[in-house]
Amino acid sequence: MEYTTLLLERNGAVTKLTINRPQALNALNSQVLEDLSAAFRALATESETGVVILTGAGEKSFVAGADITQMKDMTPLQAREFAMLGQKVTSLIENLPQPVIAAVNGFALGGGCELAMACDIRIAAENAKFGQPEVGLGVTAGFGGTQRLPRLVGKGKAKEILFTGDVFGAEEALSIGLVDRVVTSAELQDYALNLARKILAKGPVAVRLSKAAVNKGMDMDLANALQYEAEVFALCFASQEQTEGMTAFVEKRKPNFTGK
Ligand code: HXC
Repeated sequence: MEYTTLLLERNGAVTKLTINRPQALNALNSQVLEDLSAAFRALATESETGVVILTGAGEKSFVAGADITQMKDMTPLQAREFAMLGQKVTSLIENLPQPVIAAVNGFALGGGCELAMACDIRIAAENAKFGQPEVGLGVTAGFGGTQRLPRLVGKGKAKEILFTGDVFGAEEALSIGLVDRVVTSAELQDYALNLARKILAKGPVAVRLSKAAVNKGMDMDLANALQYEAEVFALCFASQEQTEGMTAFVEKRKPNFTGK
């Protein structure tokens, strides 16, 4: 499928989505959000895609936020619609069965930081810049930032970021757990691709169930989450993958996973 504001590139079982509005630093307007929503809905049922990489076009920006030009004259009801559209996209990413890696190639501000936070793993280029500058525009974060940021970096640090609107670099993002790895700009896309391939070499059913267990478990109390983990573990034993993975170990060979 063709998208107006997205480039979709397939590399074996890795699908890369590039937000392609570099003239506006890939700011998220309704069209980008609709395209992202359609793309992630389609990817969810695509068995050929094992891992998704999300990045931005150009060297300067991942996503510099929601589109301020579009938001400027919104009524409260339009603003709510817009927030809910962005939240739909972030939830689609979070609930996508396959892992999603954010390759953060520059500014990840406001809605851009929120989009990256919905991904499973964040790899940042050295030049990446993060922040939730919304308060400087007289608004709060609205694509999940007030909720996912404290879950990632803790309540105090999240409040500091949300209240000050400060923009900070990749190393600081790494030190607070907002990103998982920092690499050079030149290395970023290859690093993300190799990470995707590393994941693809493992059992795809187990990878998908691991994502579900972490995401669902984090919203439960520990006793229920542990019970959920046991159910997910048991479910693995209904897959050919478990038989193949364990048999391969015993036979001292590499497993040949088929995704079943
Ligand atoms: C619309 C944007 C934009 C944005 C950049 N542009 N960010 N357009 N919305 N969020 C446009 C600029 O207007 C400019 O267009 C072009 O991209 C290049 O940007 P410059 O500002 O000229 O580049 P530079 O001087 O390098 O500064 C980069 C920047 C700055 C620091 C990232 O652009 C900036 O501060 N952008 C806004 C960041 C922000 O506040 N994001 C949060 C938005 S609120 P022209 O046509 O002039 O060339 C948000 C809310 C989410 O995300 C929740 C909603 C419900």
